Amino acid sequence: MHEDKILVLDFGSQYTQLIARRVRENRVYSEIYPYNAPIGKILHFNPRGIILSGGPSSIYDQGAPIPDLKVFELNIPVLGICYGMQLMAHCLGGRVAKARKREYGRAELIINHKADIFDGISKKTTVWMSHGDRIERNPAHFQPIAHTDNSPVAAMANGSRRFYALQFHPEVVHTPQGKKIIRNFVFRICGCKPAWTMKSFIETTTREIQRKTGNKKVVCGISGGVDSTVTAVLVYKAIGRQLTCIFVDNGVLRAGEARKVEETLRKHFHMNIDCVDASERFLKKLKGITDPEKKRKIIGNEFIRVFEEEAKKMQGVEFLAQGTLYPDVIESISFKGPSATIKSHHNVGGLLKRMKLKLIEPLRELFKDEVRILGKDLLIPEEIINRHPFPGPGLAIRIIGEVTQERCDILRKADTIVLDEIKNAGLYTKLWQAFAVLLPVKSVGVMGDERTYENVIAVRAVNSLDGMTADWARIPYEVMGKISNRIINEVRGVNRVVYDISSKPPSTIEWE
Ligand code: XMP
Repeated sequence: MHEDKILVLDFGSQYTQLIARRVRENRVYSEIYPYNAPIGKILHFNPRGIILSGGPSSIYDQGAPIPDLKVFELNIPVLGICYGMQLMAHCLGGRVAKARKREYGRAELIINHKADIFDGISKKTTVWMSHGDRIERNPAHFQPIAHTDNSPVAAMANGSRRFYALQFHPEVVHTPQGKKIIRNFVFRICGCKPAWTMKSFIETTTREIQRKTGNKKVVCGISGGVDSTVTAVLVYKAIGRQLTCIFVDNGVLRAGEARKVEETLRKHFHMNIDCVDASERFLKKLKGITDPEKKRKIIGNEFIRVFEEEAKKMQGVEFLAQGTLYPDVIESISFKGPSATIKSHHNVGGLLKRMKLKLIEPLRELFKDEVRILGKDLLIPEEIINRHPFPGPGLAIRIIGEVTQERCDILRKADTIVLDEIKNAGLYTKLWQAFAVLLPVKSVGVMGDERTYENVIAVRAVNSLDGMTADWARIPYEVMGKISNRIINEVRGVNRVVYDISSKPPSTIEWE
């Protein structure tokens, strides 16, 4: 069990995840529940403090989200942020009104009363605001503790009940002293101890896996990416050779990928690993297909089929381990993002039912950056931990038009060169993704005295924080030059290289 915990109630802010991450950075475990979580569930979680997130609603909107008001009667500290503050004011007897002017962006906060939440914070400090409503009258027993030009009550406190409310967002980087404010809440006000470490996570999770699986067999599908590798290594640490990993070569992997994955898991960790070369099967199914969504479906379905066949060969498997992460499972109003659909091909729901497997998801409490830290603690090579995201349908969605063996080979060679040169230039870990795309057009060129009519490769490199938005990377011209020269000289069948300078939105990162 985790020791001291903080609960974040989500009212729909785009920053809700960030609040939980900020708390966890302080080694205090934190989870996010939807704003209307039943009080019984909250009590069962047993938090030392509750944070009410921001949100897009106005407290006077019809159907504005209101939590079970018993959260204010639990005798535990509460911190309201933005909408969370207005909600506290409204529910505890104050008055909230539309501000004359929407306050958005940086503002100067002036602290007029030293409260615990501002311990160690300078009297004047920059904060990030984003609100249309403001507090006109604070509730009884609350004291205004800070203001800005636009918000006479930019923060308020009821010290004896340990209730605090902030109009601004301490969780974002644009509030430079925000981390300290969150630390004040977590440690000074809630009295949490920083006991949640990766070491403690590994200990409790491996015990949990052992308890759940007993002496039964477990299978785990691995892709070479960080989530599935960390899952496999963690489960292996718990139950050793009761675990078998299945790696499916679908014919649209990067050059050398299958060999690398096998080497790492078998040689480095001595795990049972079943590598299945199903490339011919996949390529046959992809023959003549040009529609991106059809490619995705075919690869997804075929993957499930191969996986099921392999799992059936192993007698008596009862569990399937999967690398689901926290953002995929938060049941909340603010994260109905694209991840559910993007990962649809990994959906093994049907498989679980047909094979009567039970699921274990040891990473379901972690954010991506925490998975990377965990991976390091588990001694997984940096090369895997820092690997760029690679889509499940692989090179198939980077070969525009039909996927054939020949086109896969061309793209694989070009892709290897792109990555080599990006790594040589020290750019790999700075970029979100960098890759090559094979276009379905041919263009004219000259080689020696000969006229050529060959393929075009597009190079894509982007910066991004989460893949939801992205900007094309300003790769130095010299690096672009090297990539282009090498591709044209070394990859037969390519005579032109172009660089993609579109951002997401409105483009996407992948071309299909
Ligand atoms: P887009 O192209 O939508 O991609 O901007 C956002 C991120 O998701 C990855 N991506 C996929 N990942 N299966 C996956 O597992 C898919 O079908 C898929 N399509 C896109 C993409 O590489 C980027 O990181």
